[in-house]
Amino acid sequence: MKPGISQHEHRRRRRALLEAIGPGAALIIPAASEVTRNRDVQYPFRQNSDFLWLTGFPEPYAIAVLVPKHKDGDYVLFVRPRDPERETWDGRRYGTEGAIEHFHAKAAHPLSEIDAKLPELLASRRRLYYPLAQNDAFDLRVMCWLRTARAQARKGISAPVELVDSGELLHPQRLRKRPPELALMRKAAQLSAHAHRQLMINCRPGLTEQQLEALFLRHCAEQGAREQAYPPIVAGGANACILHYVENSARLRDGDLVLIDAGGEYQGYAADITRTFPVNGRFSPAQRELYELVLEAQQAAIAKARPGEHWESLHQAAVRVLTRGLLRLGLLTGAEQNLKSLIKDEAYKPFYMHRTGHWLGLDVHDVGDYKVKDRWRPFEPGMTLTVEPGLYVAPEAEVPPAYRGIGIRIEDDLLITDDQPEILSRDVPKHPDEIETLMAETHTNAAPSTRREHNARV
Ligand code: GLY
Ligand code: MN
Ligand code: MN
Repeated sequence: MKPGISQHEHRRRRRALLEAIGPGAALIIPAASEVTRNRDVQYPFRQNSDFLWLTGFPEPYAIAVLVPKHKDGDYVLFVRPRDPERETWDGRRYGTEGAIEHFHAKAAHPLSEIDAKLPELLASRRRLYYPLAQNDAFDLRVMCWLRTARAQARKGISAPVELVDSGELLHPQRLRKRPPELALMRKAAQLSAHAHRQLMINCRPGLTEQQLEALFLRHCAEQGAREQAYPPIVAGGANACILHYVENSARLRDGDLVLIDAGGEYQGYAADITRTFPVNGRFSPAQRELYELVLEAQQAAIAKARPGEHWESLHQAAVRVLTRGLLRLGLLTGAEQNLKSLIKDEAYKPFYMHRTGHWLGLDVHDVGDYKVKDRWRPFEPGMTLTVEPGLYVAPEAEVPPAYRGIGIRIEDDLLITDDQPEILSRDVPKHPDEIETLMAETHTNAAPSTRREHNARV
């Protein structure tokens, strides 16, 4: 993978982290390992996001060590060495020379030497940062390195006595995106929005959920996003009421809605977009009522995506609109003046059971605390997040029949700015009239041959 972030930017990140670590400590971040699917076949490799953020190094079986002011260099990479035979089978490797030349490690060694070299790197450092309790095998290795380092006590060398989760330092930095990664996030959102648009254009009754999924994957891949940020959800009709529906195998029916929650991954960065639209291009009155309610809730939540606001005010803005609307449409019963107590009692929960968004970045549910010292963390310019209210009316819900089996979510990707948020995923329509217009333009009783021609073009 061609690195999307320059080494200049990676160096800047490491410098900030080295500063935060301080001379009395060290930090270790391992790369992801390959996972065997069966025999000689591996699952597609995805680099560990912390490691990728820090190094840009794309290979498995590597470990990065930051040791501020160490005499042999403050940034050491342990990597797989070059090996012509293995490279013939499994692909090119950068090796130790490449780790220095292309990834600017101050020193690089074969991974097989880490047990011998690491205790020395940790010597006389009081605190060690690493991803605590994420991987049993890695926890065990860290303990072994510590034990070896401690065995040198009689030589007057002390070993770390404090272990701290590396996320404490790394994740607040990952949470605030800088311009180079915002450019990649814009691209991930734009190409995914384009793919969503194509699904609206090409959807028609009789297609399967899987065919829409295939179209999404193709459009993402053609625009440079070979991987998805998460498995796409393509849910026709009542399947949309299953929040993590991934079977994507049913046939799409005339008169139903289809919910598509899908986002490509571009140079490691995620998009996470949901659109819900009528399979036949026209909302029924009940579908439109619920859809407009979700859209109003999303707009109320987006209005809270500004510096100084936080996740709870954003969520409550959506919950208030949804609860008031459910009451008006008769899905909840009670008087309008009871709105406050219905919200307090979470009466909306049978229809809206998830939160209104999450941080977005290298991971689709990106790192970063939602609360700091028990208080909701205020939004700041440079933070990126999703806003994704929904309504899910189970087929067996005791509500007016026209609403049963309808699941709707509208999800956009936002960048907090000094003022209004930038909607990264704005290129795909979400207003019901815009959706109907786009679908009508492209679905007009065109002869099948015209439609095929159109499909060939998209
Ligand atoms: N696609 C996962 C989510 O929306 O959070
Ligand atoms: Mn989503
Ligand atoms: Mn999401």
